Amino acid sequence: MSGIGDLSAAERNKRPIFDALADWLVDATDVLEIGGGDGTHARYARQRLPHVRWQTSEAPAHLRRLTAALVDARDDERLPPPLALDVRGAWPSARYDAIYAANVAHIMSEDAVAALCGGAGRQLTDGGLLCLYGPFFDEDEAPGEGNLAFDRALRARDPAMGIRRREALDALAADHGLCRIARLRMPSDNRLLIWRKESARAG
Ligand SMILES: C[S@@+](CC[C@H](N)C(=O)[O-])C[C@H]1O[C@@H](n2cnc3c(N)ncnc32)[C@H](O)[C@@H]1O
Repeated sequence: MSGIGDLSAAERNKRPIFDALADWLVDATDVLEIGGGDGTHARYARQRLPHVRWQTSEAPAHLRRLTAALVDARDDERLPPPLALDVRGAWPSARYDAIYAANVAHIMSEDAVAALCGGAGRQLTDGGLLCLYGPFFDEDEAPGEGNLAFDRALRARDPAMGIRRREALDALAADHGLCRIARLRMPSDNRLLIWRKESARAG
């Protein structure tokens, strides 16, 4: 679980996330990050995934902060300038080997989560991965007290927010040709969920 606006959360969770992610992104070249926040994970990706071109992005209202945070890396071609991307709007036309978002699905509205899955279905290469990190509820696991309280706090702040259900995400992802291949336990009752884009069948 991570708090809203808690800048240190990205610092705390970056190591376990990238320890897990590194195994899945061995062959990735181009990664798109959604909701890059303060750029902590983009900066860390440079260190942990030196073979990857990490394209981070933010919703337009928050882009300036992300761009400013990464200004010293502007000459590094592995970390191109952040893109303005609200997942409900137009997406970049590039194709990506992976799309990554940390602590984003519970902040987004449900229609934005659906748009995120749709965008991943369109923009991932065949075999590409959608990787979502954060708190999730799961029909196979009793919800933790911390996540239940966090979910209540989110919904009290904004009814459009809330911890998403893993099985609902699986169904949404499947609608866009994505099949879940990993459900990893992470510290503080978070998960790293990974879906793979199935190759389009001929005919
Ligand atoms: C809790 S912050 C997480 C930031 C960062 N990923 C981290 O782990 O620290 C949630 C992020 O989701 C982004 N977000 C919310 N709705 C969005 C949308 N419709 N499209 C793109 N990003 C969105 C917000 O701008 C914000 O940066």
